[in-house]
Amino acid sequence: MRDTNQPQWQRGRLWSAVEADLDAGRARDTHWTSPMNFSASYFAGDDVAFVAREAFVKHIGDNVTHRHGLHPSVLRYEREVLDFVKRLLNAPPNGGGTVTTGGSESLFLAMKAAREWIREQKPHVTCPEVLLTHTTYPVFNKAAHALGLTVKQISTSVGYRADLEAVQQSITENTIMMVGGAPPFPYGLVDPLSELSALAREHGIWFHADACIGGFVLPFSEALGRQVPTFDFRLPAVQSMSIDFHKYGYALRGCSVLILRDEALGKYQTFRSGVWPAGDYASDNMAGSRNAGPVASAWAVMNYLGYEGYRDRMARVLASMDRLVAAINDIPGLYVHGMPEGVHFSFGSDELDMVAVGDGMMARGWMMNLQTEPESLLLMLSAQHDKDVIDKYAEELADVADGVRTGRIARSNNDEAYGIY
Ligand SMILES: Cc1ncc(COP(=O)(O)O)c(C=O)c1O
Repeated sequence: MRDTNQPQWQRGRLWSAVEADLDAGRARDTHWTSPMNFSASYFAGDDVAFVAREAFVKHIGDNVTHRHGLHPSVLRYEREVLDFVKRLLNAPPNGGGTVTTGGSESLFLAMKAAREWIREQKPHVTCPEVLLTHTTYPVFNKAAHALGLTVKQISTSVGYRADLEAVQQSITENTIMMVGGAPPFPYGLVDPLSELSALAREHGIWFHADACIGGFVLPFSEALGRQVPTFDFRLPAVQSMSIDFHKYGYALRGCSVLILRDEALGKYQTFRSGVWPAGDYASDNMAGSRNAGPVASAWAVMNYLGYEGYRDRMARVLASMDRLVAAINDIPGLYVHGMPEGVHFSFGSDELDMVAVGDGMMARGWMMNLQTEPESLLLMLSAQHDKDVIDKYAEELADVADGVRTGRIARSNNDEAYGIY
């Protein structure tokens, strides 16, 4: 028998010992439901988490790849969650869709479809370019890298939203795809999607509205009567949209959806091969084998909450959002970037060192993201952030801001605490 050369794994251990080890490790982690977690939590309450977990566990041994033969129930989940999302995003009745493992896969597939589509639409384009705004999620850069597409990256925002003039000036006859955020991760402000859509239409460019975060936020915010710019398939140039069940759709991690304006566009997304001896291979996804648990959890949460349940839970998060934005704007020296439409936002300062403010808050146990341009803190709200948590956060933030102003609190230089790796 081959020796592992690692004595601790040469022999197995009792489950009780393994479990104790797991628990000891997790005790040092930030729990996703913690009220102090203002990073990507997407907690909707214990009842929703229970439903998501139960459904996940029932399908824990099932592989989505075998849904056509072994697990027709998973086919049904996929069909129904796609139907729900298509209505949510005002997709045309002939819209198509794919359930994916996450936002990144949805974005990748959208770009692949755009690339194949343009090969047919504009065969003279031999050096295709994708036009990315300042705040576009970097997975678009990763996908372009993998798909052999050139990126034209815009490095400015205007009022924390996409720089329309820069976009307009960067469009060339080689531009095949443009992206707008509904909303993007940085700043949390919805891009001027109507204007971007008009530009895309004028130039015959594939336009993707990235609603990975906002897809389960903006429709409900709009339904609650709040000011939300048009962000979905009502914009005529939008060819594809990504929306993540595992964010504010409250499924467990591993479930997003890509919607195409017309299911006929799906042929540009699909990969087919018949070259090996085990029959035809066809896939709309990047991932191969994948757990059916995330899809089951998405379907179960969707059925448990229904449209009204999502809307009512979102109403509470939006109320917390309003309260926190107002409280931060009241703290001397701090201000929120713009007027965010969703439930995440960033705030900065013209006078205070925001890295020190972030470090001061992290030293007290609060978890957030740091942005670099400008140095600022980014918060994502979920159900655990009720009125009491918001008030406590604002009180401590006011104290930390004062500490930074008076020199009581300084940067800790722990660079690894920030960024997405
Ligand atoms: C706007 C936006 N798009 C896409 C993604 C990628 O999603 P995922 O992490 O599920 O791959 C993210 C992730 O946070 C995001 O914020």
